[in-house]
Amino acid sequence: MIFTVAIDGPAAAGKGTISRAVADRFGFAHLDTGALYRAVGVKGGDPVLAARGLTPEDLARDDLRSLEAGQAASRVAVIPEVRAALLEFQRRFARRAGGAVLDGRDIGTVICPEAEVKLYVTASAEVRAHRRWLEVGGDETRVLAEVRERDARDMGRADAPLRAADDAVVIDTSDLSIEEAVARAVALVEARLVAV
Ligand code: DC
Repeated sequence: MIFTVAIDGPAAAGKGTISRAVADRFGFAHLDTGALYRAVGVKGGDPVLAARGLTPEDLARDDLRSLEAGQAASRVAVIPEVRAALLEFQRRFARRAGGAVLDGRDIGTVICPEAEVKLYVTASAEVRAHRRWLEVGGDETRVLAEVRERDARDMGRADAPLRAADDAVVIDTSDLSIEEAVARAVALVEARLVAV
């Protein structure tokens, strides 16, 4: 069975948690596409060459979740050649047999516009910054500034900017528990699965 769940949205909206839960629930493979951009961002050197030569070791680095890696990812993600180098791998993953969940910024719009389920997971910048601050610590005002800076760059870039696909279902997690957000996503996937 080919079945793709595309989950897009801004940083720290809950995409990762929802994606992992949906993948576990239905036995689908999961790809955190942000990790590809983070690995390119922290690798250093020419980002286009880094994207073309990305290795499993690059993706296994333990510093990929830092604020710095997020910023570096967002900066290299504006480069069209970097995006092009990562495109085919993501497309193939999305249409692999057995079902796949991909989370990122452009899954429903560019990587897999034919995805069977498209979700746009969002939350207010303040709520997202607070969640990220609980993870990384430090100065919460700085974390909020970084979240806003990254939103502006991800939404404002020319190539594959972050936006909800026209046919995406929006889940605003600002006032939802993890369980509630996951339950909504699972219900949407279940409803679509019975139709295929
Ligand atoms: O989801 P994340 O925070 O790990 O993503 C890090 C950065 O990578 C994000 O700010 C923009 C970029 N990104 C992208 O441009 N396209 C994707 N599909 C995923 C991430």
